Amino acid sequence: MKQPPKVRGLPLIGDSWSFIRDPIAYHDRTAQIYGPVFQSKVLGVSVYSLLGANCNRAVLQNSQDNFSCREGYLPFLKQFGLSLLLMDGEQHRNHRSLIHQSFTRDALDKYLHEMNAGVDGALRSLRAGVSLKFHDFAKSVNLNIAVRLLTGVNLGTETEVAKMAFTDAIESAGALIRISLPGSAYRRGEKARLYLRGRLLHQMSADRNMSAAQDLLSRMLYGSRQSGTNMPEAAIVDHINAILNGAHGTTSSVLSSLVYLLGANHEWQARVRSEIKAYGDAYPGFKDISSMVSLDAAYREALRMYPPSIVILRKSKQACAIEGFNIPGNSFICLAPRYTHFMSDFWEHPQDFSPDRFLPPRSEHKSHSHCWIPFGGGDHYCIGMHYAALQTKVFIVHLLRRFTVGLLPNYRYRIKYAGVLAPADGLPITLGEHRVQA
Ligand code: HEM
Repeated sequence: MKQPPKVRGLPLIGDSWSFIRDPIAYHDRTAQIYGPVFQSKVLGVSVYSLLGANCNRAVLQNSQDNFSCREGYLPFLKQFGLSLLLMDGEQHRNHRSLIHQSFTRDALDKYLHEMNAGVDGALRSLRAGVSLKFHDFAKSVNLNIAVRLLTGVNLGTETEVAKMAFTDAIESAGALIRISLPGSAYRRGEKARLYLRGRLLHQMSADRNMSAAQDLLSRMLYGSRQSGTNMPEAAIVDHINAILNGAHGTTSSVLSSLVYLLGANHEWQARVRSEIKAYGDAYPGFKDISSMVSLDAAYREALRMYPPSIVILRKSKQACAIEGFNIPGNSFICLAPRYTHFMSDFWEHPQDFSPDRFLPPRSEHKSHSHCWIPFGGGDHYCIGMHYAALQTKVFIVHLLRRFTVGLLPNYRYRIKYAGVLAPADGLPITLGEHRVQA
């Protein structure tokens, strides 16, 4: 059995800086020199990067037996308290099944009206001819909708404060200096978490008819009392904050990438718009959204090219063999979805935006069970996967019904990595007149 090659990083800091600043470029560059399995030093610990579809499958498929999700994320997320990613085994299964009730097909169906109304209302405040930073706008809209749907709270004028708090909290998870120095990202993260916890705890004490309310917060409070789990309130708050983060951070990330790609590819923008227009002017229902195949293909392609989660982390429980390499027990493991998303073994001209690759006859995503993994896989696969698809597609439906989307001349999409992939400049776009509405 071979030992994974060791990357020769800088003295003391190893590869921490290049890994954290730009994990995509780091993995591409390092794999070219060392091959797809290698060991490097990040934040003082050895990390085994395992790249490619077979490695994804080996780690994600039997994750509970050989790999701990909790231990993989603990150094980065422990200050967030409880979340599904910080759980393994039976505890994970119990908490996940309680949360899952808010992400069933039935629950999503009930969210659809609020999603439609929230996006439609926000877009009505915009006029053709304006330029805006789309990512910032999308985050506010998505956060407002998610908070209303999942906690029953109307953020209103508090939206910007809450948005900033989520941004600070998630950015602090990837901070290079992990002590609470004044003015540091880490300190800002601490303050943000205090605010978010306090805000939700306050909401929990509010009078609510928990057995009738449909939001996740009420369901968790009620469900945990009914089932006898009696989850502490602090634990519920931590879960909800982690979920709200997914519900607006990752969703706005893929939405921005999709808007950029449609802005840069006018043929596809026209194709998706004409598909949408075939469904008339009413708010689209679940079935309408599900039958928009061009929109779905473009959405999947945006997730292939710009997966919001750049790395998936685990810790090995015991020594194992992966792709002919010996991976010792108790080691940090890192998967990099975007690396596989650009492998020419599975994808034709991977650098090109070509949503047709997800449609028959090409169906390239079917060439390997783990060549497209924007939502992970196995026991911890994304619980909000369908919520994200619905929210993003509803947004695109209303946006393209109303406006044409254009980019600035010679625009280049630059991305940054701060817990989640995002456009570095907020994605400036210009809106053109598509059709005047009352
Ligand atoms: C396009 C948007 C999204 C992407 C790309 C995404 C990506 C992911 C990935 C890759 C994982 C697995 C991490 C791992 O195995 O280590 C995950 C887990 C998770 N996601 Fe998402 N996510 C998205 C949207 C959402 C939304 C909308 C929510 C909630 C409303 C959400 C909540 C969660 C939760 C709670 C987990 C942990 C699940 C568990 O550990 O059992 N995500 N997500």
